[in-house]
Amino acid sequence: ALAKKGLSDVYPFHIYESLGSTNTEAIRLLEKGVEPPFLILAERQTAGRGRRGRIWQSPFGENIYLSLVVRIQKGARQLEGLSLVIGLAVMQALRASGVSGVGLKWPNDVLVQGRKIAGVLLELTGDPADVCHVVVGVGVNVNMDGEGCIEQPWTSMKLELQSYIDRNCFVYELCLKLREYLVRHAESGFVALQKEWELNHLWQGCEVVLIAGAQRIDGVVLGVDHVGALRLSVNGVEQRYSGGEISLRLR
Ligand code: BTN
Repeated sequence: ALAKKGLSDVYPFHIYESLGSTNTEAIRLLEKGVEPPFLILAERQTAGRGRRGRIWQSPFGENIYLSLVVRIQKGARQLEGLSLVIGLAVMQALRASGVSGVGLKWPNDVLVQGRKIAGVLLELTGDPADVCHVVVGVGVNVNMDGEGCIEQPWTSMKLELQSYIDRNCFVYELCLKLREYLVRHAESGFVALQKEWELNHLWQGCEVVLIAGAQRIDGVVLGVDHVGALRLSVNGVEQRYSGGEISLRLR
């Protein structure tokens, strides 16, 4: 059911009924020699991965589980702020589809009134100094409205818009936004999107606890820098943080 005329004009795609993880399949096809860019879509995942070792609930037929593989041509610089830019693209696609109140939480959570509606998981393959690829994994809660067993507050497009969503239309919109933002990021770097990202950061100016492993740091969110690192005021002194294992909570 997940196919859309026109989507293949944006990116070549492969659709599966069921996969462990679309990110894993993307890496497998890449290793088999499939030329990027390409998209992997699945109706469900049996081992969907979230950030920081979490499981991503991936029930059949309700949501979008997508991986987009792109080649990194400009080395490590092209990775700077990339995961934040993907969050921004997903947010804009949701907005264009009528969802209101949607915003971002550093580094790449997409939230509506504190509830998670989409998540982004980037995985890198190869050597950033040489040939490398990035697998952009995106999960969007589209028509999910049951109890689920998600351990954090969540919502879906259907719950927000109070109507059933055509996933084909949304996936097309999403891929247009992903392509648009990836091009802007590749051409001009994160610095060109920094202000737009901050304008949509729901926790700008908020008192937060930063959690990095066993470490807990109290601070106030100042924004993000030109490579997407979090700028935090800690005891009145600006500190910067980046890395996939870091998370934020409100104080
Ligand atoms: C998060 O923890 O917020 C990131 C969730 C990312 C989920 C998506 S669903 C498609 C892709 N395949 C996976 O296994 N994970 C990502």
